[in-house]
Amino acid sequence: MTDLRSRFLEGMSRAATFVGVATTDGPSGRFGVTISSLTSVSADGDHPSLLACIHHRSPAAAAILGNRAFCANLLHQGQEGVANLFAGRDGKDQAARFDEAKWTAGTIGQPRIDGATAQFECKLATALLWETHYIIVGDVVGVDLSDDTAALLYGQRAYRKAVGLGDS
Ligand SMILES: Cc1cc2nc3c(=O)[nH]c(=O)nc-3n(C[C@H](O)[C@H](O)[C@H](O)COP(=O)(O)O)c2cc1C
Repeated sequence: MTDLRSRFLEGMSRAATFVGVATTDGPSGRFGVTISSLTSVSADGDHPSLLACIHHRSPAAAAILGNRAFCANLLHQGQEGVANLFAGRDGKDQAARFDEAKWTAGTIGQPRIDGATAQFECKLATALLWETHYIIVGDVVGVDLSDDTAALLYGQRAYRKAVGLGDS
């Protein structure tokens, strides 16, 4: 592993991230994609804001740009199957993914995945194409929280769960 790209990928694989599914619905269609790039930007602007980095070839990215809205669903630690479904690992197309996952439309019509530990409904604020990925920033217009707070994590190329340092 001598080249910079490989060392970058290996280095980033050591960062445990939470796992989300970015969903969108509207005139450009209903799409969803599993993401580990979900990040809080600010709680103190006109709206709270978050960002996600989504590959420019993902049909979900084009649909978010077209629909100008999306929902960032932070998956619960028991939702590895949902993560694989929306990562395309089961080979299911978009319609089949939304048939299999349970979801409801949020207040601005964006798909909220049942059981997600938090659901952030967003209006598109801005998007920047950087190399291969769109950096998509959303203005959060609504947050739904489940009673179960444990988020699904991904690190060192495997799904994980958070364990407190004091837990055995
Ligand atoms: C845990 C996990 C995290 C991922 N994070 C991202 C991400 O942040 N951005 C992204 O564009 N793709 C990410 N992917 C890849 C996409 O979910 C998906 O597999 C890829 O875009 C191909 O999807 P398709 O078959 O629906 O086109 C991730 C996949 C997994 C399993």
